Amino acid sequence: MCGIIAYRGHKSNAARMVLEGLKKLEYRGYDSWGVAARTEEKKGGVETPDIFIHKKIGKIGELNLSELSLPRSNLAMAHSRWATHGGVTVKNAHPHASLEKDIVIIHNGIVENYLELKKELIKNRYEFVSETDTEVAAHVIHSEYAKCGDLEKAVLNALKKFTGRYAFLVMSKKHDMLIAARRGSPLIVGKGENGDYFVASDIPAFRAHTDEVMYLDDEEMVVIDESGARFMDLKKNKEVTKRLVKITWDTKEAEKGAFSHFMIKEIMDQKETIHRAINQDEKLIKKVAQAIDKAFGTYLVGCGTTGKVCMVGSYLFSRIAHKHINVEFGSEFPNFRHFIRKGSLFVAVSQSGETADTLEAMEVAKEKGAKLMALVNVEGSSMDRLADISIYQKAGPEKAVASTKATTAQMAILTLIAYACAGNIVEGKKLLLETASLINDMLNPRYEDHIRTLAEKIKDVESMYVIGRGMNYPMALEGAIKLQEVSYIHAEGFAGGELKHGPIALITKGTPCIALVANDEMKNEILSNAIEVKARGGFIIGVSPTNEEVFDYWIKVPDVGNASPIVNIIPVQILAYHLALLRKNDPDMPRNLAKSVTVK
Ligand code: G6P
Repeated sequence: MCGIIAYRGHKSNAARMVLEGLKKLEYRGYDSWGVAARTEEKKGGVETPDIFIHKKIGKIGELNLSELSLPRSNLAMAHSRWATHGGVTVKNAHPHASLEKDIVIIHNGIVENYLELKKELIKNRYEFVSETDTEVAAHVIHSEYAKCGDLEKAVLNALKKFTGRYAFLVMSKKHDMLIAARRGSPLIVGKGENGDYFVASDIPAFRAHTDEVMYLDDEEMVVIDESGARFMDLKKNKEVTKRLVKITWDTKEAEKGAFSHFMIKEIMDQKETIHRAINQDEKLIKKVAQAIDKAFGTYLVGCGTTGKVCMVGSYLFSRIAHKHINVEFGSEFPNFRHFIRKGSLFVAVSQSGETADTLEAMEVAKEKGAKLMALVNVEGSSMDRLADISIYQKAGPEKAVASTKATTAQMAILTLIAYACAGNIVEGKKLLLETASLINDMLNPRYEDHIRTLAEKIKDVESMYVIGRGMNYPMALEGAIKLQEVSYIHAEGFAGGELKHGPIALITKGTPCIALVANDEMKNEILSNAIEVKARGGFIIGVSPTNEEVFDYWIKVPDVGNASPIVNIIPVQILAYHLALLRKNDPDMPRNLAKSVTVK
């Protein structure tokens, strides 16, 4: 979702640098982009500041930056927009400027009271060229600036008027200064050499220039000018010092390398990531297990794919540790706030650690006095910093919109914790190590070819279904998400037993139905459900350790007991990827979707 990158420093190619940075944020998902750069050109012998703005619909990825005639500048910012208020048009793209570019801003999130503010501005004769809440924010800052002529004060005063979650970057043609503020949407400051600073919504945007970062917290602002970076706590209205954090992953980890897409690279990364994920400090895992044991109700909360992982978690805790764990999607969790009290444990599961709905649910739980735990992939993310205890997924940067390696890493860690809760962490670790090594064997070129052949057979179907039982039921839901996200084939997941209560009416001759089978006590039942589908003409794709008569196409997975959801989802990820390619879709940047969903 919206990417933000800005630079202020001693170099004169700021516009180019921020656009290069914006390319590194493409994975977040967007529909238009824009750049603003402050220039100082001699006009009639006098240095005259101005702001160059360029905006475009579509993707920046393929653009050769040397084709753009960019001005010399030491201060620039760029933005990729995922439309919320107003359609995908150049006018709605960021940056947005107020009168005579005195104020130019880019923004992530939503100013919820923008209509109210807009009415006020219209009364004061402000004119609007876009439908966005961002332009309203630019004019509000401008109206404050007109009163005091002080950019920092104007931003401070304007921020007090906004409701909602956001991240803002502000510049002005009149000041060689960059201001950034956050409430709810991520912003990270990178410290380069010789007084150079970057501000971005994610580290890959400036990772090529520095590995030293400072995280802006909610209700904080940073002012960057020739004297350096000053951080302000907006609630306490005083300056704060930020800790400099060193980034440990290198730039290569966030690149495609020899793969044609991030999605397939990240699927193949699963040869190593399960192993990495379970390489955790045993003391920490045991501490978490104890916290779950003692808690007055544990809530596993996540969104999208991660929400399905949370559902798998509840099955795992029930099977392995005989413990009941509550599961909710982030967006639905606030409805259950009444059951949270001191002593409850809230576990936020998230790849990015920034998903607005999960973050807000976490804040709700915090208000009610719950203990907070974060199971995140991005260290230093908002959820990580809000939590009392964090466990890292260690999957490395995940850039494809469709989550793959973070999903299986999350499941591996939840499995490990469930075993720790049962007092059997050693057995859990052994199972997961075996699983990791079997996945390493499984992900070979022949395996991928076998799935590609299947993709060729079914690429033109209108609908597909995925079924599973027990811990493979949430993976049936997740399998359907993967297919929807990148192949755009209508796909739905069901609990095997629920089929005959309605969905079976949708099966016609040749409809593909993927059955996720584990070698467990539900095997015969899920096979019976597959037989019921086949009897109505369905084409049965079995993902299973053994071949069964009912399967029209068999994709073998290792027999790994309670780790079955981890191995069963991988062939569906590969199938979704190849269907996307065959249907000429871009699997890394699927239409309408965003990687890090920072709006509610
Ligand atoms: C988006 C992504 C999904 C992800 C979900 C939650 O929808 O496309 O892949 O599962 O957000 O993201 P999180 O970062 O919280 O795991």
